[in-house]
Amino acid sequence: MQIIHTPNVIGAHITSVDLAQPLSTADFARIEDTFNERSVICIRGQTLNEPQLIAFARRFGSIDQNFLTHYAHPKYPEITYISNIKENGKDIGHADAGSVWHSDMSYVEHPPRATLLYALEVPTENGKVLGDTQFSSAAAAYDSLPDATKQRIAGLQAIHQVAGRRAKTGTGQQDQSLRRAQPSVVHPVVRTHPHTQRKCLYVNKGECEGIEGMPQAEALALIAELADLTVQERFRYTHHWQVGDLLMWDNCALQHLASFDYQWPRHRRFMHRITFGATR
Ligand code: SIN
Repeated sequence: MQIIHTPNVIGAHITSVDLAQPLSTADFARIEDTFNERSVICIRGQTLNEPQLIAFARRFGSIDQNFLTHYAHPKYPEITYISNIKENGKDIGHADAGSVWHSDMSYVEHPPRATLLYALEVPTENGKVLGDTQFSSAAAAYDSLPDATKQRIAGLQAIHQVAGRRAKTGTGQQDQSLRRAQPSVVHPVVRTHPHTQRKCLYVNKGECEGIEGMPQAEALALIAELADLTVQERFRYTHHWQVGDLLMWDNCALQHLASFDYQWPRHRRFMHRITFGATR
């Protein structure tokens, strides 16, 4: 197994390993250590059936269910379809996942430790890969804060709601009534990573609606300031997909954003997603 760190503050590419074969405890530990250290890892060139994908995810923690159950794999509900493909005029999967910078399912009480996306179809145009996913380090962003800001935000609790403010931005329009039915939850503005103990900023503009006990205008300004910092270019890694990529990211240590530079029916994008390892 070969592990190569990207030149960015996050990200690693892992090759020469076949997850369809039994994975030794030592190799799994190397993958998990790399994951904790680099926050987003791509294990390239995989050919995995659904039980193999689920079994790999389970080694990191129990599988979490998404509330958008109508995009679940019909035989394997642990897997959600992320796709722009339509059948009989209907989306077969979650087509606008990742339309704002966010951390997956921050709007639930126990958000997943990690998300895995396995690429089955990747759109291209004249040889150029489309549908990149960007990641940005919430841990590096926290480290970059002046001490006075670290003190100001210590102990603050932000309010997350999945329809949240993104509904007003014109993005994330799919399934709005289901999204609005989800309750809001509260999480610390600064999370301590359960595996590395690093402190990570945990607010985003798409889904955070306020900060407990703070006047709304002040709260939204602070959320915007911290969220904008978190996604600065210097903290980012951009993933250019290949079919067979198994990409895994750490929902405490980073935020991510999908790009929508592809269009049905000209382009097809199809991924299997699993979220797992609920943490508080
Ligand atoms: C997501 O935000 O979960 C999906 C990201 C992507 O499809 O690139």
